[in-house]
Amino acid sequence: LSVGLLFGGESPEHEVSIVSARSIAAHLDPARYDVIPMGIARNGVWVLTGDPFARLAAGEQPERGPHPFLPFERGAEATPLPDVFFNAIHGAGGEDGQLQGFLEPLGRPYTGAGLLAMAAGLDKWITKRIWESEGLPVVPYRGLTEEGWARDREGALASIQPLGLPLFVKPANLGSSIGIEKVKRFEDLAPALDRAFRFDRRVLVEQGLEVRELEVAVLGGDDPFVSVVGEVLPAGEFYDFQDKYLDGRSTTRIPADLPAGLQDQVRASAAAAYRALDAYGMARVDFFVDRPTGRLFLNEVNFIPGFTSISMYPKMMEASGVPYPELLTRLIDLAIK
Ligand code: ADP
Ligand code: DAL
Ligand code: MG
Repeated sequence: LSVGLLFGGESPEHEVSIVSARSIAAHLDPARYDVIPMGIARNGVWVLTGDPFARLAAGEQPERGPHPFLPFERGAEATPLPDVFFNAIHGAGGEDGQLQGFLEPLGRPYTGAGLLAMAAGLDKWITKRIWESEGLPVVPYRGLTEEGWARDREGALASIQPLGLPLFVKPANLGSSIGIEKVKRFEDLAPALDRAFRFDRRVLVEQGLEVRELEVAVLGGDDPFVSVVGEVLPAGEFYDFQDKYLDGRSTTRIPADLPAGLQDQVRASAAAAYRALDAYGMARVDFFVDRPTGRLFLNEVNFIPGFTSISMYPKMMEASGVPYPELLTRLIDLAIK
């Protein structure tokens, strides 16, 4: 089976995706799959010739080919369609429905969820609204649009005040903690919002909790397989980009040390959160436990979770009896069935 491994992309998680995809390529069973690396450069052009891994890692941004509709590099005209696409592109472009909408008319299956789930799941604001409508617990928040913020800054700040301090300011459509700020004083809120609106038209402000961070890996369709619960113990003030990918000082515990009742609650909520978004294939569902009250909240979902060698999704699956190569096979089987 030929597997078109899609990676890179135009989002700020471009580098993370390269690392995820290298790890996926190394774990795809060579007896079963011919891996065709397909890189999407930072300028959106598909890099299909030579060694796309090396070319993306070198920051190449080739010219588009002659076809005015299609974003492929010049000289890639003869590239055959793979039997299945394996999507390892994090964030905007790969994890928000755009790529899924592009692949559908090609008539080839792709791993992971479809357009609707992706678009909703990357958007933290829409995600929360869907979960709230299902009665699932989310951290108290306010959502702001750039226009609303420009029109009435004082009103916006006043609407946030009841959430107390600290606050977390988040662009609605990002990942890997990019653009997220913890705000400890109200006078720092307006500048933090100004910065967040450079990343996105829509921004969330959440009540900042003192949290334990739990994560669960989900695999399948409407009745998915749910892994054991894992815990991330960030090294710094919160689980930021540096901590996730650069110095790796955070530690993880798989399985998390939790009372059995809470574990069951987390796993059942993960499945419900997955179904609520019409998810398919895979997701990592992330939770907070508020330390003072012990209350459980859904934080967010990642439909293209990190797949690096230190990433939680493959590690939690492994700890639940699904080794990395088998996980990849199951994702491909879910795509082509
Ligand atoms: P991303 O999609 O970038 O991973 P998250 O919403 O998961 O964004 O936030 C990144 C990190 O910020 C979390 O893992 C956690 O450490 C911290 N964080 C986010 N929201 C809150 C909150 N409401 N209270 C406490 N910590 C938070
Ligand atoms: N968005 C990144 C890759 C993650 O949270 O796993
Ligand atoms: Mg997160």
